[in-house]
Amino acid sequence: MAHDSGRRRAAAVTGGAAGIGLAACREFLDRGLAVAIVDRDAEAARKAADGLREAAARGGSGKVIAASADVRDTAAVDAAIDAVTGELGGLDVLVNCAGITDRAPAAEMADASWSRMLDVHLTGTFRCCRAAFPALCDSDTAAIVNVSSVAARLGFPLRVSYCAAKSGIEGLTRSLAVEWAARGIRVNAVAPTWVRTAILEDAVAAGVLDEAKIDAITPFGGVVEPFEVAKAIAFLASPDARMITGQSLPIDGGLTINPNV
Ligand SMILES: NC(=O)c1ccc[n+]([C@@H]2O[C@H](COP(=O)([O-])OP(=O)(O)OC[C@H]3O[C@@H](n4cnc5c(N)ncnc54)[C@H](O)[C@@H]3O)[C@@H](O)[C@H]2O)c1
Repeated sequence: MAHDSGRRRAAAVTGGAAGIGLAACREFLDRGLAVAIVDRDAEAARKAADGLREAAARGGSGKVIAASADVRDTAAVDAAIDAVTGELGGLDVLVNCAGITDRAPAAEMADASWSRMLDVHLTGTFRCCRAAFPALCDSDTAAIVNVSSVAARLGFPLRVSYCAAKSGIEGLTRSLAVEWAARGIRVNAVAPTWVRTAILEDAVAAGVLDEAKIDAITPFGGVVEPFEVAKAIAFLASPDARMITGQSLPIDGGLTINPNV
């Protein structure tokens, strides 16, 4: 519960219609929060919300709403955050999880594909944080969790725009954490290794990713499951993490601290 009004804590999750975002929504519901899915795919968001309502039967809050917004569109983001804040009676948590992937040789990358990646991940995260700021200022337990990646630390070839965008998200996370601490808003990130979602399945199917190789370079096993990222997101978003801000938490089985590669 939020301390101020006695209402349920409320979380908005961008990219919540699928993958890690959907798992985060499920975890928040299990913890009794009200949840808003914000996704560019309106139909998928609506279906995901319908599916998640069944969580009520498992003892979760069951309060799930869906809003459609492309995080590249400032007006749409502002309207969606306003709408879900109104509908849920406030907002305590924002998770920036909307994302895309791309592979191309850097020397051949067109401006448009570079800009698209930066717009979705980095500027999209900024837009949503800015839109949620007034509502988060009214919460006693405000937290933002941005979804970074091990790509913020490792130099993946053919992923220059993705690596740059995720590194940018970690800089944004640190800056907002300091600037908004006085307003009671904590800002953190999670930085997963490969997670078993559509992005990973597509890469495996296209032959550009080999799970055995991931296993071989990861000290503690290989691919992460979406629910495992969701649990870390939910912890960082919870009052249990009251003294944690400005950090990026690797969820990578030790990949980024492995000297044996
Ligand atoms: N899957 C991985 O291996 C992995 C690893 C590290 C980090 N991540 C990051 O996790 C996040 C989620 O990835 P995922 O694997 O769950 O992907 P996913 O494709 O399963 O889900 C992404 C969701 O984001 C939505 N989305 C995409 N562009 C959007 C936009 N412009 N506006 C609003 N919504 C948009 C999609 O509709 C979809 O519902 C991304 O930021 C990704 O970079 C993924």
